[in-house]
Amino acid sequence: MKQVVYITRKLPEEAVRPLREKFTVRMWDKEDVVVPEEVLKEEVKSAHALWTTITDQITREIMESAPNLKIVSNCAVGFNNIDLQAAKELGITVTHTPNVLTETTADLAIGLLLASARRITEAEAVLRDGRWKSWTPMQLTGMDVFGATLGIIGMGRIGEAAAKRARGFEMDILYHNRTRKMDTEEMYGFQYAELDDLLRQSDFVLILAPLTDETRDLIKKRELRLMKKTAVLVNVSRGGIVNEQDLYDALTEGEIWGAGLDVFETEPVPVNHPLLTLPNVTALPHIASASIQTRLAMMKLNERAIRDVLGGRVPNNIVV
Ligand code: DGY
Repeated sequence: MKQVVYITRKLPEEAVRPLREKFTVRMWDKEDVVVPEEVLKEEVKSAHALWTTITDQITREIMESAPNLKIVSNCAVGFNNIDLQAAKELGITVTHTPNVLTETTADLAIGLLLASARRITEAEAVLRDGRWKSWTPMQLTGMDVFGATLGIIGMGRIGEAAAKRARGFEMDILYHNRTRKMDTEEMYGFQYAELDDLLRQSDFVLILAPLTDETRDLIKKRELRLMKKTAVLVNVSRGGIVNEQDLYDALTEGEIWGAGLDVFETEPVPVNHPLLTLPNVTALPHIASASIQTRLAMMKLNERAIRDVLGGRVPNNIVV
């Protein structure tokens, strides 16, 4: 009997095809709808491998009802949707997709920073809605990016890639990270700062840290108050790192100037979400790694990891 792979989202056939020869592949048939929990619970009962996305909550309960499960391969670098402790205890390998999305995510981070600073999406809406009456001296004026100070929270691979891009704008780079990166400091002149100092000194604060127990709600009222009133907060990591109510208050009370958000606490975010009502928020639907090449490269890593584990080999990109 062939081993069973269950894929929680409809993926391009070219990504899935290599698995079909050796394994029985079952796949949730919708691209834009999350697999319902009851379907997932039923499917995992016979699955040897689960190919997941960040929208699937892979809980202890799910894994405990999967007696044959050997691997959960997550199509993301983040893995906060998976109960790692439970996976470890149950002997289930968890893999993710680092490296291949680094540059693409850094591109978007800088893109969102620029869009927020220069009000690009807001300005386009003015034009498209027929509200462009005349060139106006102070209409849609934003914040300069060139030469500004960028504070990066979470200086991993993506943070470094974003910082290198920011150097092209002659930005000064501060960073805060669990561990200091002496080699990168020496090589590129990035400067380590304690979180409060980074918040006080930065014109742009870019969040690229993973969501963990330590980083949940890391940026809340107190931290937002430390930021400059002209500062822009950009989050390309996970929504739970910034307290959304406090961010809303800071943006409406003029504690900070603007925000660029690719991620939200609960996704998809409803259109009537308070943050989406604010003109000084540039919002995107979690697209940081969304280039065709990168998404296919991420899927390739998942496919390989599944083939490796089901073939009795040690895969790359193991989380636990
Ligand atoms: C990740 O990789 O963690 C992104 O958030 C989803 O692409």
